[in-house]
Amino acid sequence: MNAQALPIVVTGASSGIGAALSAQLRQAGTPVIGLDRKASDGIQACDLADPAAIEAFADTLPRHIGGLANVAGVPGTAPAELVLRVNALAPRLLAAALEDRLVPGAAIVNVASVAAHRNVQPPEAVAELIAAVDPDAISAWLARHPLSDSASYDTSKRALVDWTVLEAARLLPRQVRCLSVSPGPVATPILRDFATSMGQDAMDRSEAAVGRHAKPEEVAAVVAFALSPAASWVNGIDILVEGGLFAARAAANSHPTEGPRQ
Ligand code: NAI
Repeated sequence: MNAQALPIVVTGASSGIGAALSAQLRQAGTPVIGLDRKASDGIQACDLADPAAIEAFADTLPRHIGGLANVAGVPGTAPAELVLRVNALAPRLLAAALEDRLVPGAAIVNVASVAAHRNVQPPEAVAELIAAVDPDAISAWLARHPLSDSASYDTSKRALVDWTVLEAARLLPRQVRCLSVSPGPVATPILRDFATSMGQDAMDRSEAAVGRHAKPEEVAAVVAFALSPAASWVNGIDILVEGGLFAARAAANSHPTEGPRQ
């Protein structure tokens, strides 16, 4: 079966990166099944914080799917429990619910964030979070590892990136790839919340370092590539899409001991 002709499920399809991705996929002739909190033109309603809603959504899908783009996310201005449920748990639940529908050649692409690198939870705690299979387990994890709402975003994205690697290995025999894409700041509605949770100064410094914020289309294009057969040998990695932000920071932090080479 040709994965390219089959529909791709896109979460967070109403806004920002998810909307840009849906438009790019459709323009390339790929059918899109969009999902978001509220139903709108061609987009189904599904609250990703609710595992029963995820199951019910999955039951409406056709038997064969060409890919899943987990794009929806909530910022660190939301309560930590909601952040972990939507950003870290829902992509796993949705992938599991769709697994039997994903044909060989299909891909799962998870939109994470450069914020994953700000996570301060130790690897064992992140591994425990990845092992949490339902909202009760998320609550229990939070009781053991209290997080401020803002830090919850960083940890949720770390868990998403780390789970992506495990999932890629697990799905190898099925010929289904799994990747994450980690944007730096992107000019979408969520950016206002990031200014609140991470600080306007931090956002301004990032913008100054690379000259501007990304456009949602620039991130969507990388997600579309990662989903496509052109990326058939790209698997189990995190693709940074940040316009050189880390390079700019590394250069600013380097202290050469010698003068420039002649
Ligand atoms: P956005 O706010 O434009 O879109 C997020 C979408 O997710 C919205 O349509 C929202 O309704 C949906 N959503 C949120 N909670 C949901 C729920 N419980 N159920 C169903 N849908 C839900 O933001 P943007 O920028 O397009 O964000 C997309 C992804 O990119 C998110 O995962 C975000 O964390 C990530 N990201 C965004 C960056 C940015 O600066 N904009 C930077 C790094 C990562």
